[in-house]
Parts: sequence; C-alpha cells; structure tokens
Amino acid sequence: MVDSSVNKPLKVGLIGCGGIMSLAHLKPGWLAVPDVELVAACDLNAKLATKLAADFKIPHVFTDFRDLLALKEIDVVDICTPNKVHTPAVIGALEAGKHVLCEKPLAVSVEEVLAIRAALGQTDRLLMTAQHHRFSEASVAIKAWVDTGALGEVYHARVNATRRNLLPISPGFIDPNLSGGGPCMDIGVHALDTALWLMNFPKPVRVSGRAHTNFAKGFDIPGGWGEWDRTLFGVEDFASGYVHFANGSTLVLEASWLQHQEKEELNATLQGKKASIRWPTGHFHTVVNRTLVDGVVLPPSGRQVAHTEEILAFADAIRNGKPSPVPIDQTLDVIAILEAVMRSSKSNEEVRMSDIYSQA
Ligand SMILES: NC(=O)c1ccc[n+]([C@@H]2O[C@H](COP(=O)([O-])OP(=O)(O)OC[C@H]3O[C@@H](n4cnc5c(N)ncnc54)[C@H](O)[C@@H]3O)[C@@H](O)[C@H]2O)c1
Repeated sequence: MVDSSVNKPLKVGLIGCGGIMSLAHLKPGWLAVPDVELVAACDLNAKLATKLAADFKIPHVFTDFRDLLALKEIDVVDICTPNKVHTPAVIGALEAGKHVLCEKPLAVSVEEVLAIRAALGQTDRLLMTAQHHRFSEASVAIKAWVDTGALGEVYHARVNATRRNLLPISPGFIDPNLSGGGPCMDIGVHALDTALWLMNFPKPVRVSGRAHTNFAKGFDIPGGWGEWDRTLFGVEDFASGYVHFANGSTLVLEASWLQHQEKEELNATLQGKKASIRWPTGHFHTVVNRTLVDGVVLPPSGRQVAHTEEILAFADAIRNGKPSPVPIDQTLDVIAILEAVMRSSKSNEEVRMSDIYSQA
C-alpha cells in the first residue's frame, strides 16, 4: 500500500555529516534514490554541515539535531552520528513523526534498544538499522541459497571481524562515552548481524565472553589509519564470545581492531548437516554420494553497492508501506548478544539471555 503521508519528492534530513554520511549514505546512497529532496544537514561541527549543504545544495543547516527534527516538512531522517547519540536522535525523530534510518549499532545497550522500541510502538513510522552488509550482492545470493535449505540443519557458526592494525582513530570510536564499545560494537556487529540473518535469527539463550585491551594502550602496533589518543582509549581492542541458541546451535564470535594476523577479516561460516558456506565469498562444501564437493554461490550482477541498496530498500519500504528491511527485534538480539559478551567478561561467568532482557 502506498504511504500517502510522505511527500513527493521524499524530504530527507541528514544528522551527522562525517565519514559514512558523506562517503556512503549521501553519495552514492540518497543521490541514487529517485524523487528525493535533501532538506537539511546537521552536525555538531558547523563547518562540516555547512560544507556538505553547500556541496549538495541543501537549504537548511543545523548544529542541534532537535532543530532539524522541528522542521515539519521532513519525512525521513538519516542518522550517522557517533553511537551514543543514536538513541536520543532516533527517539527524538520518531517522536517528531519522522521515518528513521540509523547507522549501526542502533544503540549500545539492550536498555536503549527497548527504549527505542517503546517509542516505535507509539508511531506508525518506520525504523531501519543500517546493516548494509545484508544488501550486498554476495549476501543476497548467499541468503537465497541458504533459504532453499541447502545447508540442512545449521548447528554452528564461526563469525570473524578481526583486523591487524586498522583501529578507527577518531574519539567517536575509542572514547567509550561516544562509542559505547570497541570492535564488538563497531565491526563485530556487522558480521554477527549477517550471520544471525543467514541463520534466520535463532533465539540466543546463554553467552560467555571475554574482552581485552591487549595492544591499544601501547605503541607496538602502528596504526594503519594513523595514531590514536592512548589516554582517550577506553574500550576493548579484542573480544570473543560463545553463544548457545534455543535450537541447540552455537556461534563463536571474534572481534578485534589490533592483533597479529595476516590481513583484515570480516566473514562468517555456517556449518550445516548437509553443507557449509562462507560469507561473503559464497564458497560452500558438501558431499554427494560419498564424493566431496566444493562450489561457490555466484552473486547476480547489476546490484549497486550495499549502502545504496540499503537506502533504496528503506525508501521503497516507506513509500510502499512495507515492513522495515532491518526490524528492531532482530537488532535487539544482536545488541543483546554483544552486551552479554561484555557482561560475561566482567563477571567471569556465563550470562543467561533472559537476565539480559529482563534487567533492561
Ligand atoms: N556501516 C558502515 O560501514 C559504517 C562505517 C563507518 C561508521 N559507521 C557508523 O556510522 C556512525 C558515524 O561514523 P563515522 O565514521 O561517520 O564517524 P565520523 O566521526 O566521521 O562522523 C560522525 C559525525 O557526527 C557528528 N556528531 C557528533 N555528535 C553529534 C550530534 N550530537 N549531533 C549531530 N552531529 C554529531 C560529528 O561531529 C561527526 O562529524 C557510527 O555510528 C559508526 O558506527 C558505519
């Protein structure tokens, strides 16, 4: 059903005009969506917002997102601020009657996700977490293949978001007051979300985890993206977690910005009783009539980059009254697992997910 409550063209407000907004969401992202008008840009850094507005002929510039949200004509906001600003901006936007796209992680705790869900329950607006990896060519092809049942029962997943020396140096990532977490929240969230999506979101029941700061306080590993403020660094640089699901399957997660390894890895392997598959390469392994068989799921051609496909899916869902392409209950499980890893590390005990959800 077409949503007649939104403008034609769709009017968009941008909140947080840093790296991911300018390099992915705005261009090529929003510029690839037909019938869109960019109405306002907001950043705490006025120079950044003013430059973006000048470059893309955006009429309104703000430094306080509440002023942007007060613009009645805006249908949609896209939030690309540091993680800890997501929850107040998302709730403010929903309360102001806007549809919301928000970068990952949607929020940094279960308590925050539940507050967002409560606000969402009070409105007919759409909220989508920007988990762009779900929209890549490879992911769409692998998901379609997995959904045919080709893996059989999936009993285990290995999820890996690890880097050798690519630590994002800006305070928005390393200051816990802005980021709410380290590599788990930054890149673990991508691989975990994609793996759970491929597994059709089994219900997590128990989690154990361990987080360390092994290298980031020292100077032994040179930063591939430059040097960071060691005194500001207050998050983990490595975390691992082990998750048990209600259906008996398990998942092991590793996330790191700094560790001794050959190259950057962002992948997930699903082990099934009929076959296994690796995301994002699409390589699968199986056996047919006692013959070992290897293959690759080939992505269809013609899709745009994942961030753009994500934004196209969001705009399509708004215009045509479809459900959120990345619904909040799926994001809740992702954030709950990440929170459980950290809590388990602190308490040195396994954490029951029922406690994570109920303590919120
Ligand atoms: N999906 C991806 O591939 C991807 C990649 C990078 C970052 N991210 C996510 O995007 C978000 C932003 O990351 P980034 O790399 O663009 O960071 P960035 O530091 O380059 O940009 C963030 C911008 O937000 C602004 N800001 C901070 N507080 C604000 C506030 N209260 N109101 C308005 N603006 C505010 C900052 O001034 C800055 O310009 C983070 O949540 C991050 O996790 C996602």
